[in-house]
Amino acid sequence: MRACVAGWGTAVPDLRLTNAELEDRVKTTDAWIVERTGIRERRIARPDETTASLATEAGAAAIKQAGLSPLDVDLLIVATATPEQPIPHTGAFVGDGLGLHCGSFDLGAGCAGFVYELVTGAALLTGGGLEHVLVIGAEVLSRIIDPTDRTTAVLFGDGAAALVLEASSEHAPDDGPGLLAFDLGCDGSLARLLEIPAGGSRLPTSVETLDQRLQYLKMQGPEVFRRAVRTVVDSANTALGRAGMASSDVDWFIPHQANARIIDAAAHRLGIPAERTIVNIDRYGNTSAASIPLAISEAADAGDLQAGDVVLLSGFGAGMTWGSAVLRWGRA
Ligand code: ACO
Repeated sequence: MRACVAGWGTAVPDLRLTNAELEDRVKTTDAWIVERTGIRERRIARPDETTASLATEAGAAAIKQAGLSPLDVDLLIVATATPEQPIPHTGAFVGDGLGLHCGSFDLGAGCAGFVYELVTGAALLTGGGLEHVLVIGAEVLSRIIDPTDRTTAVLFGDGAAALVLEASSEHAPDDGPGLLAFDLGCDGSLARLLEIPAGGSRLPTSVETLDQRLQYLKMQGPEVFRRAVRTVVDSANTALGRAGMASSDVDWFIPHQANARIIDAAAHRLGIPAERTIVNIDRYGNTSAASIPLAISEAADAGDLQAGDVVLLSGFGAGMTWGSAVLRWGRA
């Protein structure tokens, strides 16, 4: 038995923030951003848009696309680094918005969060007797970015995307659709490379932490960059090896959209050509846990993903976490 993708959906804010507009806010240029990151614009949530509202919209679209009703969903997982509020978890709000009656939880694994929830949802489908699991990656990163910090303000955007996972029959053929293999990892000794220092039990929010702007994301960009390419390549190769495949078997490489240069370098080292690599960072920036499902959904809507295609996903992020998955596209 395997976990297959039955439906997908996205929700992004209408509001676009272009590089030209950022030039007016921080000391940067369109040329620097495009050359160093590949980003041209990103979506920014309006005050009434939140992680839960975007996740709910994406989840509803995925359930509809799968031809299901909310009551068919047996479990909801929301991967996010920007929860609706500290308590309760974001899934409580999303489940209420969608009219779900099932259990839910949030999953935190930075930008690798989507791969982690895909693997977790798949395990509960194949080993836990569930029939449908809704996995959503949703972020409103614009609320944790220091608007005066040019090293992060240009990189991140808001958005959400959802997949409905369904269990295949118990006697699925070897070449049938579904999750084939994965690799997950985390090196916590690198936690300080990408963090929001304040607002948790270690350093609760105070007047001092606000004065020091410690409620905002801090990133050692070049160090993350240096490790990201190696991490993605090693993890993707591990997942491919576990699937008994090589990069030449991959029809579509859908990496986390953090930086076009990281994507290009990783694809090159993996030996996957640009025409088989899905890139949408130019239009959305880095949307953390939403980035891989957003790219999957756009590729599926465009008709690029065909039943039987082998899809390689790979993400990395705060932690540092990483996660790769190999799946064969198609419904159960
Ligand atoms: N505009 C103009 N100049 C800038 C900007 C900017 N927005 N930001 C930095 N610079 C300057 C720097 O100050 C530096 O100037 P200097 O040479 O005078 O000191 C110069 O540009 C080069 O800066 P670097 O930081 O070395 O530039 P780099 O090529 O490394 O690009 C970037 C920076 C884009 C942040 C890159 O390091 C990167 O993408 N890192 C990985 C980020 C990432 O993947 N994060 C994962 C997030 S996942 C999650 O879990 C949230």
